[in-house]
Amino acid sequence: MSESNGHIEKKRLTNPPTTIDFRISRREKTGAEQYTETFEVPYRKNLNVISALMEIRKNPVTKDGKQTTPPVWDMNCLEQVCGICTMVINGRVRQSCSALVDDLLLASGGNTITLEPMSKFPNVRDLQVDRTRMFDHLKQVNAWIELDGSHDLGPGAVMSQETAQERYAYSRCMTCGCCLEACPQYHDDNYIGPQAIAQARYQNMHPTGKMTIDARLEGLTQEDGITNCGNAQNCIQVCPMSIPLTRAIYETNRDITVNALFGWLRK
Ligand code: SF4
Ligand code: SF4
Ligand code: FES
Repeated sequence: MSESNGHIEKKRLTNPPTTIDFRISRREKTGAEQYTETFEVPYRKNLNVISALMEIRKNPVTKDGKQTTPPVWDMNCLEQVCGICTMVINGRVRQSCSALVDDLLLASGGNTITLEPMSKFPNVRDLQVDRTRMFDHLKQVNAWIELDGSHDLGPGAVMSQETAQERYAYSRCMTCGCCLEACPQYHDDNYIGPQAIAQARYQNMHPTGKMTIDARLEGLTQEDGITNCGNAQNCIQVCPMSIPLTRAIYETNRDITVNALFGWLRK
């Protein structure tokens, strides 16, 4: 980005290459050996990583002429809402549907784009991973609000603007996994990670959710809980939804301390 006449101007690729090399991590199935194949895709304007993958899928022949299987990846919304297309692109974890080829070429200065699956989740095939553990972490911290029933309960409890705004920020999580991929403390599912902590914080702030805060805090103080955070702050830098993850961790730690000191008063 550069600024001129008070307007932010986005840098443009002025001299695009005629073709782009996609170096793609391949694996036939869970546990099989990983290898890399390179595919050449003709450059065209407004190409994103998923449209390039679709081009490759139509005719899966490598740059050196070998017929191969079409690469496998996950996709759904195609507008950075569902998080399922997350992968490591030129070394950075992000959504492939919103990764524009022009931006990637500008940033790297070359004509090669590498695509790898996230490394912190079981690799199912090629670029596809199994993110089940993130949903298990949500269960561990009771990341929901209990309901008495589906009958009309009347208007909900009043919430301050400040609380509503902070909760809105947490509500935007799409369980993409970027924060876990970037977290140096998270490996082999040893730590529930920032996403589950932020979702616990989201529900702990709700007037009804406050009633079941103990169950959430208990889930967060297990062996794989919040104390594993080393405060490296990598998570907040890669979150595509700009979720205030370090704030959630700080405030949840404070809740745990207060609960340990004064929780008995509520019993
Ligand atoms: S602050 Fe650092 S250690 Fe804590 S969850 Fe974020 S990346 Fe991981
Ligand atoms: S907190 Fe951000 S990076 Fe982590 S799963 Fe949610 S949206 Fe993705
Ligand atoms: S396909 Fe949904 S975020 Fe990319």
